[in-house]
Amino acid sequence: PDLQSFIEGLPKAELHLHIEGTLEPELLFALAQRNQVKLAYATIEELRAAYDFSDLQSFLDLYYAGAAVLQTEQDFYEMTAAYIFHCQSDNVRHAEIFFDPQTHTERGIGIDVVFAGIARALREARDTQGFSSAMIMSFLRHLSEEEAFATLEAALPLREQYQDLWIGIGLDSAERGNPPEKFAKVFDRCRQLGFRLVAHAGEEGPPAYVRDALDVLHVERIDHGVRSEEDPALMARLAKQRTPLTVCPLSNLKLCVVNNMADHNLARLLHAGLTVTINSDDPAYFGGYMNANYLAVATALRLSRVDIIALTRNSFEASFLPEADKQRFL
Ligand code: ADE
Ligand code: ZN
Repeated sequence: PDLQSFIEGLPKAELHLHIEGTLEPELLFALAQRNQVKLAYATIEELRAAYDFSDLQSFLDLYYAGAAVLQTEQDFYEMTAAYIFHCQSDNVRHAEIFFDPQTHTERGIGIDVVFAGIARALREARDTQGFSSAMIMSFLRHLSEEEAFATLEAALPLREQYQDLWIGIGLDSAERGNPPEKFAKVFDRCRQLGFRLVAHAGEEGPPAYVRDALDVLHVERIDHGVRSEEDPALMARLAKQRTPLTVCPLSNLKLCVVNNMADHNLARLLHAGLTVTINSDDPAYFGGYMNANYLAVATALRLSRVDIIALTRNSFEASFLPEADKQRFL
């Protein structure tokens, strides 16, 4: 088969996906109208044209502004259902989904509304199509650790109700100047509570943030992690421990972490023995879902089919699925 059909045919897991980053301009405009939210852009085309980023912060500004149209349980449901539809076209069989309650509670939306809408779509897809998924609640690192604790306390009463989905805790938003250490205490608490832990590190931040995410936060996976390559000792450690990196090629390109896809270090990381995975991050903003990310990187880096298969196998190995379920997918 041609490369695209080959990629389409492989079952995949997505491990780095912000559900708020799947809000396409069309749905964003529809929700703005339904909820009577005023937008800074007159048309869908104008909004899409604004998706021209210079760095992480320039993206985050638009991403948080866009999330303001999400108000009701139904809104979160529709956004999540639309993402699942893309998973089906891309042969994504399992997804571990980040959500940022603080983006919504700051605007007066109940945290229960956020959980309920996302979970309803995920459970429906599980029950009707066997789609497998999990939820990873993420703290915004530009806010304080105190605010992260308050979010955790607000969410814990929901834990039993969502125990089939809510398995983990993540850390995202502006990386530079917000090191992992800032969240040491709240991650300790989450670990005691038995959550699986991940954190964004080494996207714009230095390799020291990757090391500290491992040593101070005790995370099991690193989201992005591409700047680990600047530190050979860290690279050796990641390979030895098989610490997965959830790499997002189109995101890295759109946020100018790399200037050309041909310069992306994904193939070097993979060939250095790291457990690299491919993911879409915020596909509505970065121009492509899972297969588009695989195709872009496979083409630009001339990945072999053996490499592509390894990347899809890594996605299941690096997932938080129980071992027996991983085998079912592999
Ligand atoms: N929030 C959504 N996408 C993100 C990214 N790529 N890095 C940090 N925070 C994010
Ligand atoms: Zn991300």
